[in-house]
Amino acid sequence: MYRLVFTQVLRRFDAEAVHRLTVSALALLARLPLIKRLLHQALAPHDPALRVSAFGVHFPGPLGLAAGFDKDAACAEAIAALGFGHVEVGTITAHGQPGNPRPRLFRLVREHAVINRMGFNNAGALAAARRLRRPRGVPVVVGVNIGKTKVIPEAEAAADYVASARALAPLADYLVVNVSSPNTPGLRNLQAVSLLRPLLVAVKEVADGTPRRTPLLVKIAPDLADEDVDAVAELALELGLDGIIATNTTIRHGGETGGLSGRPLKARSLEVLRRLRAKVGDRLTLVSAGGVEDVDDVWERILAGATLVQGYTGWIYGGPLWAARIHRQLLRRVRRHGLKSVTEAIGRTA
Ligand SMILES: Cc1cc2nc3c(=O)[nH]c(=O)nc-3n(C[C@H](O)[C@H](O)[C@H](O)COP(=O)(O)O)c2cc1C
Repeated sequence: MYRLVFTQVLRRFDAEAVHRLTVSALALLARLPLIKRLLHQALAPHDPALRVSAFGVHFPGPLGLAAGFDKDAACAEAIAALGFGHVEVGTITAHGQPGNPRPRLFRLVREHAVINRMGFNNAGALAAARRLRRPRGVPVVVGVNIGKTKVIPEAEAAADYVASARALAPLADYLVVNVSSPNTPGLRNLQAVSLLRPLLVAVKEVADGTPRRTPLLVKIAPDLADEDVDAVAELALELGLDGIIATNTTIRHGGETGGLSGRPLKARSLEVLRRLRAKVGDRLTLVSAGGVEDVDDVWERILAGATLVQGYTGWIYGGPLWAARIHRQLLRRVRRHGLKSVTEAIGRTA
């Protein structure tokens, strides 16, 4: 049904216009308590066998929505009501900014992929903080992903991230330092350990200082050389970070300028996950993103060592009930393997 709506209607409209309309509809849904609660009851994962715990946070199911959809923390509860086990909002920057000129979001329908060069369009950390302070009608685990304001020079990057962290860490279930988006000039240079170390140390001090110590993760690009993946993993261990999100979009493609996500990213994302697991074992929480399309992908990532899995492009092609469907199928998979809980499957083939 959704495939029909997608191919006959949605794909004929500008991708960003559809995205904005969807966010507005979900923001409206977030303001309708009864419907939101009913949807949450029907679609959110409730079975204890799907629960996972990571860095002291309890997730109702392992599949969450990756950063970039709810950039302004406008509709996280509605997204959770549709069946996602967590929602990563952002990327949020210290200062609000418009992002890159349009068009900046492109569908590659045959490849089940998307290219985006959004450029962290968002209203800024203080606006997001105001939204995150609102009471929530349904339970939702909210991760907050922060990035560098475009106009801030690289030398002042740490202070810019710290400003976002001060505003948002107390309101986040976990905080993510994003140094891997391809659409802010120079951002990915911050993945070099010499620049990443002072940045993570500064943000960690803020995260550690919140009343319940906010868990801190770093999100990396799939285009890092394998040795650089190892170097970031070592740094994360050394600094006592809680986890790594792998991966962001790739710039290794021949299409429009921007980051490619979806099916073509699947193999590299899995490869980076396997490398990380081999390096860090279960000392860090690994969150796998990139090309996750169905329950087989989610299962494969969990077996390879991911405690949490995220998707975004798979949702675009899979429809509104995508996450609820995958969680339902995942529960069946867990039972079929004779496991009591999905957590027993984490890292089994690693
Ligand atoms: C339109 C779009 C916008 C995105 N914006 C962000 C962002 O602001 N911050 C971020 O860390 N990742 C962003 N991402 C990357 C996703 O979070 C994810 O890491 C990547 O798309 C791979 O997952 P997927 O193949 O399931 O989409 C964006 C992805 C898309 C498609």
